[in-house]
Amino acid sequence: MKTANQSIKPVTTKINEKGNIEIGGCDLTELADKYGTPLYIYDEATIRSVLNDYKKAFKNYPKMNMMFAAKAFMTKAICKIMQQENFGLDLCSGGEIYTAKSSGFDMSKTLFNGNNKSYDEINYAIECGIERFSVDNFFELALLNNCAKSHNKKVKILLRITPGIECHTHEYIQTGHLDSKFGFDLSQTDEVLELLKDEYSNLELAGLHAHIGSQIFEKQVYYDEIGVILKEIKRIKDKFGITLKEANIGGGLGIKYTKDDKPISIYEIAEVIIKSVEEHTKKYELEEPVLYIEPGRSIVGTAGVTIYTAGSSKQVPNGRKYRAVDGGMSDNARPSLYQAEYTVEIANNANGRNNEIVTIAGKHCESGDILAKDIELPEIYEGDILCFYTTGAYGYSMSSNYNRVLRPSALLVNNGKSDIIINRQTYEQLCESDVVPARLNKTADD
Ligand code: LLP
Repeated sequence: MKTANQSIKPVTTKINEKGNIEIGGCDLTELADKYGTPLYIYDEATIRSVLNDYKKAFKNYPKMNMMFAAKAFMTKAICKIMQQENFGLDLCSGGEIYTAKSSGFDMSKTLFNGNNKSYDEINYAIECGIERFSVDNFFELALLNNCAKSHNKKVKILLRITPGIECHTHEYIQTGHLDSKFGFDLSQTDEVLELLKDEYSNLELAGLHAHIGSQIFEKQVYYDEIGVILKEIKRIKDKFGITLKEANIGGGLGIKYTKDDKPISIYEIAEVIIKSVEEHTKKYELEEPVLYIEPGRSIVGTAGVTIYTAGSSKQVPNGRKYRAVDGGMSDNARPSLYQAEYTVEIANNANGRNNEIVTIAGKHCESGDILAKDIELPEIYEGDILCFYTTGAYGYSMSSNYNRVLRPSALLVNNGKSDIIINRQTYEQLCESDVVPARLNKTADD
């Protein structure tokens, strides 16, 4: 069965009677008028359809725990949806923990990930009731044990391992290969087990964790990853007599940004994961583990679009045609960071116009601030509303105030209703943290 991550557009997308694009029953041009642009728009129906597909796809594996990787897009409203749908949260910073906690999220269903958690973050995580930590390195083992001891607590840990699996995705978002900044090499796990036995009595090893990368289109890498994890669990069992009960296989399922992308469905990936668990537990004579997955992009990526207003244009003599929009690399860093490509449409009725090849430029003072290169669209006029699809993951969450451009607003749309889930930043908020030392206010006469 086809799932939302295999389509470019949110599930509710249509062209309305005015010829404008509508998502979640809302006309994008009306949203632009009401809320301004740039604007992130999230279709609630798409998010929930993906969550339901994940639940259905894994329903035959009772020991399943699903967590949303909050780094893809996190707001308090998103936390509420995850809680309602019975998803946990994979968190990776004090700020993400704070957001989850202040949304009222059940913190016992969260995991704290990251390769350089600070003592303060760990302390805060324990105070907030996070029960599970994915421990990334030796330094963190000591830090976490000390911190747990000072709280008089025993915390559950998973060991983040690098399974040595390379997947064909952008180099910056590959994580499972051996030369990675994340996790323990498999040659180091014995040492960890010795330390846990002898020194770190406030840590309870529950299982292993791996994450092989992001925007993955291949099934085999998941099959292989689970094989590596279960083989290591078997090795640890034989050598130390300890049976680890949990396996977290990370996230990574890809989505469709352009028509050339061929992501796999959630059902297909679940089938491979379950098959690999069955085959490898049989092979290694292990009990089926409590299985965790933590997808991010595939849950919110397709649900989100960004709209911009078209502004100035430039025709390079005998060269490219540029059309600039009112946002750019500050609201979406992915094109300049990863050469990411998007599918773009004019959201207002552009029938009857001739097509042209155009490059959509951002408004930042940087030549590399290009949102889409050489794409074919009906001729764009100043004031048109441009819709960039599949910006829901790692768009807003990687936004910045570069050039002191304000962070945009984000909406949740559903059945013709639109609600703000992030307010547009104001100039006052922009300067809120700025401090002018008193001595700089002195004049020459003082
Ligand atoms: N678990 C761990 C430990 C992770 O590091 C990540 C993503 C995920 C889960 C979720 O992966 P997903 O299902 O979203 O692929 N900024 C990049 C993506 C970085 C991914 C970082 N880790 C981008 O814009 O493509």
